Amino acid sequence: MSIISDIQQNPLPAHVAIIMDGNGRWAKRQGKERVFGHKHGVESVRAVTEAAAELGIKYLTLYAFSTENWNRPQAEVDALMALLVQAIENETPTLMKNNVRLLTIGDTGRLPDNTRNRLQQCIAQTAGNTGLSLVLALSYSSRWEITRAVKLIAKNVKDGSLNPEDIDEKLVSQTLTTREIPDPDLLIRTSGEQRISNFLMWQLAYSELYFTELCWPEFRKEAFYNAILDYQNRERRYGMTSEQITST
Ligand code: IPE
Ligand code: IPE
Ligand code: MG
Repeated sequence: MSIISDIQQNPLPAHVAIIMDGNGRWAKRQGKERVFGHKHGVESVRAVTEAAAELGIKYLTLYAFSTENWNRPQAEVDALMALLVQAIENETPTLMKNNVRLLTIGDTGRLPDNTRNRLQQCIAQTAGNTGLSLVLALSYSSRWEITRAVKLIAKNVKDGSLNPEDIDEKLVSQTLTTREIPDPDLLIRTSGEQRISNFLMWQLAYSELYFTELCWPEFRKEAFYNAILDYQNRERRYGMTSEQITST
């Protein structure tokens, strides 16, 4: 209770991005299969989405499956895809109730048809919701995204619709799959790993980074609140001096 009132005294991050890591290690630690960890990870997705919606955060991006994750054993990939379909089916009514809009970023053409179709249905059904935007990064990687953007820009230059002199940071941002989404204010990674793993490399340029030893299945509302409080105690200087920031 008091932790929420503490949070409400300061500006909220508009966009929180999370690298949900450690499902497998969490399961193994208990002598269980990795998939057991993924199943419990879905509970954390539910809890954190609800917490973000309740606080009034506008965007929550969850790294659910990377381009590199396709290289995992086929049985694990299949289990993750099945869990995704199941989670969408179970959670769509809650998303509707909480006014949450679902979006995806990533090479979703690589997803199995069934998974992609379910996702599309949920995206269409929640398209009119005006609260939290929940962005699932699926078959996503930053290098994939940037390569795709470079190709699109090169095509426009080739067909004469774009002058190379007009390529600026804004145009690059607008060519990424996150074009309608502000850059993350806060990036959280669970499980003690401190790396980006090909996630939002352009967009994270000035994000605050927060690492926790908790594995993703252990990361619930309280842990999310603690990350927000930590963020609220940072000073974001964007290359300027502390004096410049505090005098505005
Ligand atoms: C995160 O947990 C979920 C996905 C990457 C799909 P991991 O499956 O990476 O779990 P660890 O990192 O091996 O413990
Ligand atoms: C990053 O986790 C990808 C997701 C959370 C979906 P990984 O577990 O795949 O990352 P690495 O391989 O440890 O860097
Ligand atoms: Mg991992």
